[in-house]
Amino acid sequence: MKAHKIADSLFCVYADIASDELFEGIWPIPRGVSLNSYLVKGEKTALIDLIRDWSGAPRQIEEALAEAGASFESVDYLILNHLEPDHTGWLGEFRRRNPGAEIIATAKGINLVKSFYKEERGLKVVKDGDKLDLGGRELVFFETPNIHWPETMMTYDSASGTLFSCDGFGSFGALGGRVFDDEFSAEEHSFYEREGLRYYANIVSSFSAFVERGIQKLEALDIKCVAPSHGIVWRKNPRAIIERYLKYAGYSRGKTEPSIAVIWGSMYGNTKQGLDAVIRGIEAEGAPYTVNRVPDEDVSYALANAFQSRALVLAMPTYEYAMFPPMAYVLDIFRRKHIFDKTVLRIGSWGWVGGAKKEYEAAIEALRWESVPSMEWTGAPTIQELLVLEERGKELARSIR
Ligand SMILES: Cc1cc2nc3c(=O)[nH]c(=O)nc-3n(C[C@H](O)[C@H](O)[C@H](O)COP(=O)(O)O)c2cc1C
Ligand SMILES: [Fe+2]
Ligand SMILES: [Fe+2]
Repeated sequence: MKAHKIADSLFCVYADIASDELFEGIWPIPRGVSLNSYLVKGEKTALIDLIRDWSGAPRQIEEALAEAGASFESVDYLILNHLEPDHTGWLGEFRRRNPGAEIIATAKGINLVKSFYKEERGLKVVKDGDKLDLGGRELVFFETPNIHWPETMMTYDSASGTLFSCDGFGSFGALGGRVFDDEFSAEEHSFYEREGLRYYANIVSSFSAFVERGIQKLEALDIKCVAPSHGIVWRKNPRAIIERYLKYAGYSRGKTEPSIAVIWGSMYGNTKQGLDAVIRGIEAEGAPYTVNRVPDEDVSYALANAFQSRALVLAMPTYEYAMFPPMAYVLDIFRRKHIFDKTVLRIGSWGWVGGAKKEYEAAIEALRWESVPSMEWTGAPTIQELLVLEERGKELARSIR
């Protein structure tokens, strides 16, 4: 792996992860993810964020460090913006190689260094506004709690105006040899935008209030480059990713896109027949919509589409006197990820006595959703029922304008 020069004596050194292992043990990353570290050299050398031993990451970073004239052994300060193991899992091995480096984190971060890695030596607590003099170069720390772990901070390099923003402004998607926003085509940007939304919806969405607070706190800084711990480094247009994250944070307060996220599951196609009628209605009104089938597609994708959309269609049959189980899982994830303030149409088929309705109504109590009248039918939908379903699709589409 190469070292990517951001400014004088400042490099992005990163590892591309290609792995079948789910991110955080839950989210699929079919197109990978990058783990970004940053090397800052004054008279002393700082490394910002580490890696876990995943998909050859230590070797990749080691090669990049070597290209920048550094090594794990030559690091004087290891700055840990947050302690999640994707950025710290390799800390024990780092320590074995470099017993002298000072490990820097917030007070809560240092506690996690101790509890996760049983490390007691060479630890330094920093707090909001503290500075680290590297000799001819200065780093400043800003506590940005709960984006997304409680101990999170961001680090700012005053000389270059680079903000090392930890998971904030991050994205899924491996980088493949380029890191800067101006090195990717429009098509590649739209890929990272989709993966960035999925990353936000999956990992950050429950913490949007803290994202807004963090961004507000950094407002006074002259940010010339946003350097997150996953994904693109934004040197040409750092405002673009900040504005995008503000937009995503707004989704958590109901400032969503006028679109419809359709999420469905079906055993034998009866529910799908009804759903097709709803979709005809949505299309007749020209409303934008997305479709995800569960469990065929991972909930990660449905979550991203639901997060940004003003309205949802949830289509599922009754299964053993209750909801089709994959949809129960979807609703559970939605509650955990604060997918609130939506207008929702639920539809589905049942065979003998139903049951999805009852469980559904209990499941959505905590979700602050506005339900439009739901529609159930037995077996295959009749022509009359299909007409009603189409009309429901139209009404939903009109409601989001
Ligand atoms: C495993 C299984 C469990 C079912 N449980 C119920 C049930 O508890 N109550 C009910 O009314 N119908 C039940 N049904 C019938 C389905 O709800 C019915 O066939 C429905 O039309 C299926 O819709 P689909 O074709 O979209 O999968 C069950 C069907 C299957 C295969
Ligand atoms: Fe994290
Ligand atoms: Fe991370």
